[in-house]
Amino acid sequence: MSQITTRTLAPDAAGLTEAADLLHAGALVAFPTETVYGLGADARQDHAVARIYEAKGRPSFNPLIVHFADLDRLRQVVDWTDAAQKIADAFWPGPLTLVLPVKPDSGISKLVTAGLDTLAVRMPASEVARSLLRRFDGPVAAPSANRSGQISPTRAAHVLSGLDGRIDAVMDGGPCPVGLESTILGLTGVPTLLRPGGITLDQIAKALEAPVAERKGTEAISAPGQIRSHYAPRARVRLNAAEWEPGEATLGFGPMPCDLNLSASEDLTEAAANLFEYLHRLDATGARTIAVSPIPHVGLGIAINDRLSRAAAER
Ligand code: TXA
Ligand code: MG
Repeated sequence: MSQITTRTLAPDAAGLTEAADLLHAGALVAFPTETVYGLGADARQDHAVARIYEAKGRPSFNPLIVHFADLDRLRQVVDWTDAAQKIADAFWPGPLTLVLPVKPDSGISKLVTAGLDTLAVRMPASEVARSLLRRFDGPVAAPSANRSGQISPTRAAHVLSGLDGRIDAVMDGGPCPVGLESTILGLTGVPTLLRPGGITLDQIAKALEAPVAERKGTEAISAPGQIRSHYAPRARVRLNAAEWEPGEATLGFGPMPCDLNLSASEDLTEAAANLFEYLHRLDATGARTIAVSPIPHVGLGIAINDRLSRAAAER
């Protein structure tokens, strides 16, 4: 694809207006959310959505999440249910995505759903994201703003390292506080966790007052965050390292000597917020291997281990 100039916008009134105008014009604008940076386009414009796939090098069977600032608008494009309302009351705005049947007259581009009869929708909590969505006043399709298969971006600089020259603008809103992509919950049948993330399975089950199924690895891929090799740095990733080997870049957890520590105090929220930034940094050292300490498999640790196992998967 031909190179374009990627502008950096400030999250102030002028920057937000500029970003909203660009989206209306069918341009691609990366913006911060509380989870990771998203690569936004007007979800109603086929051409704009097609550009997302092109800029990311994303397989076109991988559908996109549509972002909204308010619930009324969101409910106009999907079949709403009592369970969806419970989830919205408990977690929105926030780091959770719902998959629901899409209405036939939703106006959402077919390229967004990649041919499925369901749509992933979310209402982000980030103030910058909400301001942009309000100013744009329409649905914004946004995958994570990285090249397909690479590490997700939690800083504007990460967005530029993958997409400079391929997108129209990035709004720099600083680091993303959660640092892991949203939890994806399927509500088209039995409530099913499709991707672990910032909201845990236990929190969801409590809000629904019902058990939540976990997607089994043997089913057809319905959320390509489920593709095994994903979130991958250039370096090989060695998990559950009990000790460090010579020459490795080392990513610790808990009190220990290491190059970077996800959380010296073993705080999983802090570890999640640091994960992608530290993988970016250790990869930039040029080391052939990044070794990572074991992370406890509880709460947010489940989502962290999900991303790490994909970063480490055979490619
Ligand atoms: O936190 C997030 O969710 C970020 C920010 C930008 O909102 N977005 C994000 O988008 O992580 P992306 O495209 O990197 O991941 C979206 C995931 C993909 O794995 C996709 O397959 C899945 O959502 N997905 C989208 N629509 C779906 C659908 N109708 N059914 C099942 N999975 C779907
Ligand atoms: Mg992604």
